[in-house]
Amino acid sequence: MEKIEIIQGDITRLDVDAIVNAANKTLLGGGGVDGAIHRAAGPELVEECSTLMGCETGDAKITKGYKLPAKHVIHTVGPVWHGGDKGEPDLLRSCYRRSFQVAHESGVKSIAFPAISCGVYGYPMKQACGIAMEEAKAALGKYPELDRVIFVPFSEPAAEVYRETFRRVFLDK
Ligand code: AR6
Repeated sequence: MEKIEIIQGDITRLDVDAIVNAANKTLLGGGGVDGAIHRAAGPELVEECSTLMGCETGDAKITKGYKLPAKHVIHTVGPVWHGGDKGEPDLLRSCYRRSFQVAHESGVKSIAFPAISCGVYGYPMKQACGIAMEEAKAALGKYPELDRVIFVPFSEPAAEVYRETFRRVFLDK
């Protein structure tokens, strides 16, 4: 529980082993947090991404961080929200699970997540946040080397949702 942090702001500024990118299936960049990460990492990031042959929804792939303070970027592709009965919760859960798994395989001890799918992909923040925290709890139980799991809401209202969800999932309140 003390390994979870909520830091509101720009994920590209964080000096951690890995930041997670809310990418699209091409892995070739886009808007939102994806655009911010590619801008901050520099053109070598898209060069490496272009060798990965894209990524399926719910999967994750790792690259170096290049000019970012973070050593790695884990690119995951969240589901587009279509009302919630098209498999979105399982796919979002899979994004977090695969990101933690890929992190573990690369020896990552500190990892930061944006609110995957909660921007242009339209996933409701509260529901997404529950899945994120549940999977963080599971990963902390599974991967003892994991030291810091940081959630990075971009706005104050989003940060409040994260704090509430943290209390519900970790403190049972
Ligand atoms: N740091 C932290 N969070 C951020 C940042 C930042 N610098 N910038 C935006 N956010 P989105 P998605 C928040 O739309 O919904 C891209 O074009 C933002 O407020 O970036 O998974 C991709 O290429 C929101 O809460 O990702 C895909 O095509 C959250 O990050 C598509 O968007 C996610 O919003 C993916 O859509």
